[in-house]
Amino acid sequence: MPRPLPDDLLQVPHRRDVPFSRLTTLGVGGVCRWLFEPRTELEAQAFVRACAREGLPWRVLGGGSNLVVLGDLQVPVLRLAFPKEIRLEGRQLTAPASHGHIALAEAAAAAGLSGLEFASGIPGSLGGAIRMNAGAYGREWIDVLVRYRFLSPEGDLVEKAPQPGEFSYRWSFLSGGHVVLSATADLVEGDPARIRAQVAEYREKRGTSQPLSKRNAGCIFKNPPGQSAGRLIDSAGLKGLRLGDAEVSPEHANFLVNHGRATAQEFADLMDQVRSRVLEVHGVTLEPEVEIWRE
Ligand code: EPU
Repeated sequence: MPRPLPDDLLQVPHRRDVPFSRLTTLGVGGVCRWLFEPRTELEAQAFVRACAREGLPWRVLGGGSNLVVLGDLQVPVLRLAFPKEIRLEGRQLTAPASHGHIALAEAAAAAGLSGLEFASGIPGSLGGAIRMNAGAYGREWIDVLVRYRFLSPEGDLVEKAPQPGEFSYRWSFLSGGHVVLSATADLVEGDPARIRAQVAEYREKRGTSQPLSKRNAGCIFKNPPGQSAGRLIDSAGLKGLRLGDAEVSPEHANFLVNHGRATAQEFADLMDQVRSRVLEVHGVTLEPEVEIWRE
């Protein structure tokens, strides 16, 4: 029997029994028994403090664009529901972590600010993008990030500038129990027409090389240093490998797609098969970029 949650935790806005298929872009997964959706930093802090005090494990969910959940989850899940306010001070743009990542890149472009064009095709939330130092086309968040606010695993509020060692390729220290609250990007003034053209070019490139019309979770594996996971999977002959409705995309081998009725288990099994085959054929162990959660 799971133990009852403390009263102060239950004061934080929450919903019960939300299917992860509605919370993730792959559209699969079990049921989220407790989904906490704080509307303010204070509510988020109350959540983390209560969990830390009780020694309760918990998880943080962003836009669900990089996630597969196996089975139901009883542990409290935190998903920020802050108002989507963007603050512009000169060339610095600050947004709450729950802001949509693509919408943020579009807002920067509309304001004539350059620097976030790379982000214009990366789905998910700003918080998730900061936490994994998301990037594309040779640019990543750490190139523009000047300040960020987060909660420590104990619930302390910290605001700081990034320091060496805190962010690297598709990684940040924020992975272990921290909650990103907001981030500030330092951008440059640019010609709005050129920024729009760059965004359109990136979109076009992604649209032709990635299976964006199907449910997907972006790239499944990180690129090993100096190599391309997509090319390794492709040349191992795995495009089109399918388990039920889960398939290694014939368009881009580092994407798995859901043809409609795939299950989380099928995606996890397909990832295992791809990893072992690439190890056999190329001697390279792929590291997942997508997270797999299980209770
Ligand atoms: N390739 C193949 N077969 C494939 C896919 C790719 O041979 O099925 C080859 C391509 O021809 C190219 C090379 O692999 O020579 C690299 O492919 P691509 O340009 O598509 O870039 P990528 O390294 O696969 C990375 C990011 C993407 C990002 C693109 C564009 C990672 C893991 N992936 O992909 O990010 O959109 O560059 O900048 O870093 C993500 O992180 O979720 C993601 C999709």
